[in-house]
Amino acid sequence: MKILVTGGTGYIGSHTCVELIASGHEVVIVDNLYNSSADVINKIEKISGVKPAFYQTDILDKENLEKVFQENKFDAVIHFAGYKAVGESVAIPLTYYENNIAGSINLYQLMKKYQVRNLVFSSSATVYGDDFEVPFKEEYGLGTTTNPYGTTKKMNEMIITDMNKADENNSAVILRYFNPIGAHESGLIGEVPNGIPNNLVPYIAQVVAGQRDFLRVWGNDYDTVDGTGVRDYIHVVDLAKAHVKAIEYAASHKGTEVINVGTGKGYSVMQVLKAYEKACGKQIPYKVMDRRPGDIAVCYADTTKAEKLLGFKAQYDIDEMCADSYRFTCNLAKQ
Ligand code: NAD
Ligand code: UD1
Repeated sequence: MKILVTGGTGYIGSHTCVELIASGHEVVIVDNLYNSSADVINKIEKISGVKPAFYQTDILDKENLEKVFQENKFDAVIHFAGYKAVGESVAIPLTYYENNIAGSINLYQLMKKYQVRNLVFSSSATVYGDDFEVPFKEEYGLGTTTNPYGTTKKMNEMIITDMNKADENNSAVILRYFNPIGAHESGLIGEVPNGIPNNLVPYIAQVVAGQRDFLRVWGNDYDTVDGTGVRDYIHVVDLAKAHVKAIEYAASHKGTEVINVGTGKGYSVMQVLKAYEKACGKQIPYKVMDRRPGDIAVCYADTTKAEKLLGFKAQYDIDEMCADSYRFTCNLAKQ
């Protein structure tokens, strides 16, 4: 298939392009490089042997986005482009709604105009809010989101569902990611945090690299194995492979499916810290702080639907995720 990947030079998008190419698909990337660099295209080529076509285009710029559709006959779209910083979304909500909602609507309108019927959308476990019991199941539906970022994901899910109800030839797979971490084993692509990282593993990586003094552990009085928060961490390469299966599923079915992508296993902050210490071979300093507002104690996926519908099961364990993250961090430091 010829696949448009929006946000394809970003963290998850770049790994997905590598896996799409490895599965024989043709990839065309649209990214405005707000949170990534053009050099990622060369890295994708180095890993996969194929240089994807690239348009430095903003999805908010409908005129230029339309040119991409005029120049290419797409079979499918994987839509990653968007802003993703939870705290920032609270401070500048309109910017988040504009980029993540208005940008998405531009894209969906062009898909309709050019009859591109197959879509995979990047959603998040954040849409479950704290309304439900773990493991989170797709059938729970949408919970109460606690920040504008989460609400943009929820709204996109609703827009896609309505749009596909109105046109029964359309097909979409909405993937609800749990906590993607790690990097490609080559160490060439990975997550490059913008500013002070909010997420656990990018923060640990900066402590290990000497950029931060210690990890702040947000609370150790939760009802969990050791009192620290538990999450379902998934290797980004596993997540990328789930996209290949999802887009192939979308192309051979109609309607809308919502599918969790996680491992189904939860690890606490201290367990991740220990795994990272094993990967880098040194002790990582930390201090226990108060709970972070808005955090839930435990979050992990029910993965039954991904296995049943997509035949997808995550392969990498937490040690491999930390080892790959560490390799990429070391390479970044050398640049
Ligand atoms: P990322 O920031 O690395 O990648 C997103 C890419 O989109 C970037 O390269 C950025 O430059 C581009 N972009 C942003 N706005 C754009 C616009 N208006 N036009 C064109 N390009 C634009 O983020 P990521 O971690 O790879 O996340 C990809 C998607 O997955 C996002 O939609 C994110 O919300 C979602 N998601 C991520 C996580 C996570 O933990 N990383 C979890 C759940 C969902
Ligand atoms: C966060 C977001 C969520 C988003 C997800 C993926 C919040 C409240 N939630 O979720 O909306 O979908 O990222 O991008 O921001 N931790 C520390 N110290 C740190 C960082 C994290 O102890 O410096 C702990 C957290 O308290 C949590 C765990 O590590 O228990 C994971 O945190 P994080 O990586 O931020 O992911 P989520 O909390 O799942």
